[in-house]
Amino acid sequence: MSKLVVRGGRVLSGRVRVSGAKNAALAILCASVMAQSDVSLENIPKIEDLRVMTELIKSIGAVLKWTEDDSLTISMPDAYTGMPTYALAKKLRASNLLIGPMLARFGRAEICLPGGCDIGLRPMDLHFKGFAALGARMVLEKGIMKAEAGHLKGARVYLDFPSVGATENIMMAACLARGQTVIENCAKEPEIVDLASFLNCLGGKVRGAGTDIIKIEGVEYLNGCTHYNVIPDRIEAGTFMIAAAATGGDIKLENVIPLHVEPLSAKLREAGLEVIEEEDSLRIRVVDDLRSLDIKTMPYPGFPTDLQSQMMTLLSTAPGTSEIIENIFENRFRVADELRRMGAAIKVKGRMALIRGVPKLYGAQVRATDLRAGAALVVAGLMAEGETEISGSDYIDRGYYKLEDKLSSLGGSVFRS
Ligand code: UD1
Repeated sequence: MSKLVVRGGRVLSGRVRVSGAKNAALAILCASVMAQSDVSLENIPKIEDLRVMTELIKSIGAVLKWTEDDSLTISMPDAYTGMPTYALAKKLRASNLLIGPMLARFGRAEICLPGGCDIGLRPMDLHFKGFAALGARMVLEKGIMKAEAGHLKGARVYLDFPSVGATENIMMAACLARGQTVIENCAKEPEIVDLASFLNCLGGKVRGAGTDIIKIEGVEYLNGCTHYNVIPDRIEAGTFMIAAAATGGDIKLENVIPLHVEPLSAKLREAGLEVIEEEDSLRIRVVDDLRSLDIKTMPYPGFPTDLQSQMMTLLSTAPGTSEIIENIFENRFRVADELRRMGAAIKVKGRMALIRGVPKLYGAQVRATDLRAGAALVVAGLMAEGETEISGSDYIDRGYYKLEDKLSSLGGSVFRS
């Protein structure tokens, strides 16, 4: 298993380009199998999760081709040649996003319960509820989700929680259903809006994405599209912002939508940092001593759970006591055990973490337990005195494109061993 080594104590400065959004690209790739002609996508990050997703889509019969470093063309024939295999689907939570598109276009989907990061139970009941409302027969048999329908019919679906995946799956399926579908209490994340824009580029009729109610008028078929540009990754951007804050740095992020990182920018300003927004770039600068903070993770536009671990790291040296409440996933504080090895003083009680700021962190041998925990440990390594060795760095490769190169270009000392 590969390891990342981080030598701490270097101040980050300079410019870095943010890659395309992992979570938007994963959903858009799944939606592409509904298109009857070629789709070409740009700003697709060449990260491990996307590699697995391209394999999954190939396994059902699609032909994929990378045209440039971050451009991908997808052609899906009129019939699938197989269902996603267990070996591939279990590697990725987002494999569940193929159910909606396959069901809508081919009338059938069979996929094993998804894998992905171990951060909570992550049930699929809201996806099932949505597909059933659209007229699909849903069965869970020996860990395989089976969905079947003649032709989906538009319906009203109320989500008990604004789940990102359920909103995406139902929205995609509804594009090819007969009549109107209304999704109430849906997720409002920027990735939902990007997926809706993509579906509309294919000829779909989706309105209201980014609000609590999405309305979809079903169409007979979806076309292809050329040069669809995926939004920048707000979580990668946020990770760099936190890394800059953690090292007393001054960096400029390019290819970023400042509005998408506003929930983080607001909190960083509260902690004493300067965040300067431009149209598609953002500068973050340490101008004052770091202050402690209270954070509650919430669905967008609340503070994103995917930046919670990185913030926990940052706050570990903020004078005073910070409080984090994790409202989205029930098992997302495992990084606290690793940060304690580095000298952090963190107490976890259920969904609450209390972080008492210590003067500094020290390099240690630690283990990434999930993707964002891995990123948080890289930030911890940058802040710490001495050398930090992070095992389980494969998790980090799932979601960050060339993280060590990008951090090195900013003056950090991060390398593989
Ligand atoms: C997506 C993101 C992930 C992010 C998360 C929350 C992708 C590929 N992943 O994950 O990075 O952390 O949104 O912003 O886009 N839930 C149910 N029943 C369901 C579905 C979800 O109870 O049927 C619950 C989950 O257990 C969790 C909460 O809803 O507690 C949020 O999950 P959801 O928004 O669905 O996250 P994902 O789509 O899996």
